[in-house]
Amino acid sequence: MNYRHAFHAGNHADVLKHLVLTRVLEHLCLKPAPFRAIDTHAGLGFYDLAGDEAGRTGEWADGWGRLDDPFPGAVEELLAPYRAAVAAVRARYGATIYPGSPALIRESLRPGDQGVFVELHPEDAAVLRERYNQDARTKVLHLDGWTALNAQIPPPERRGLVLIDPPYEVGGEIERLGTLLGKAVAKWPTGVFLAWYPIKDIRAVDRMVEALGQSLARPALRLDLMVDPPDDPTRLSGSGLIVVNPPWRLADEAGLFLPALAERLARADYGAFRCDAIGAEA
Ligand SMILES: C[S@@+](CC[C@H](N)C(=O)[O-])C[C@H]1O[C@@H](n2cnc3c(N)ncnc32)[C@H](O)[C@@H]1O
Repeated sequence: MNYRHAFHAGNHADVLKHLVLTRVLEHLCLKPAPFRAIDTHAGLGFYDLAGDEAGRTGEWADGWGRLDDPFPGAVEELLAPYRAAVAAVRARYGATIYPGSPALIRESLRPGDQGVFVELHPEDAAVLRERYNQDARTKVLHLDGWTALNAQIPPPERRGLVLIDPPYEVGGEIERLGTLLGKAVAKWPTGVFLAWYPIKDIRAVDRMVEALGQSLARPALRLDLMVDPPDDPTRLSGSGLIVVNPPWRLADEAGLFLPALAERLARADYGAFRCDAIGAEA
């Protein structure tokens, strides 16, 4: 387990993932019934952009670092919960902090909602436990995320989301994501699933989405954000999320924020996006 998210926190991939996560959380909060958010690969919770790791790559400068200027009206409104959550986490922990998914989830939890944060790396799990185990609404599990995914669904609330955000350190992880996501949806057909993938070899992503789309009995979206042309399979040219059971407005929202992000985060003048419906009709 060599992957350390501290080197990548706040990069273009985090911006896409965390914006979509905050949009889904915003929609879950529209109804009073409690929900549960399960984060199968949680990381440390939050990161210091002024720290050594973030400074060594500087990746955040081409992600969160490019969001200082507001977007035109409707896009900025969609970013408001993301910006508000970052501001709230910074008020709590410091002005150079960038929240990971657990910190963003925690900002959305109401009394009665639950956050379950799963992390396998022993040191990261210990940090996460220290940061979140005091809050009665959050629970940290030191476990394999895929095992936890199967064990934790469906949750007692029968309402909520699962974020699946593995590190992709070994080959075949994209195919594994498609297979295990399909199984998880079969086990909890009404949950909202957000499954993140890197875009290096775009053909591997296309194959996974094609296979998943054929077997998925629920509606889903493929949301991709490219910041470089997908012509070098060794480079992180972009990233994407499969969102199963997306909130009904999410496709329209993505149609607004994806082109804006593609323009803002493009490197060397190449920015692109996809927002495709896959799986069964809603
Ligand atoms: C991409 S990072 C997570 C980032 C986090 N979701 C966020 O958005 O802030 C992936 C994390 O998964 C952890 N990890 C690796 N293999 C795992 C496994 N089998 N089960 C759970 N966590 C794992 C890594 O230690 C790392 O912290």
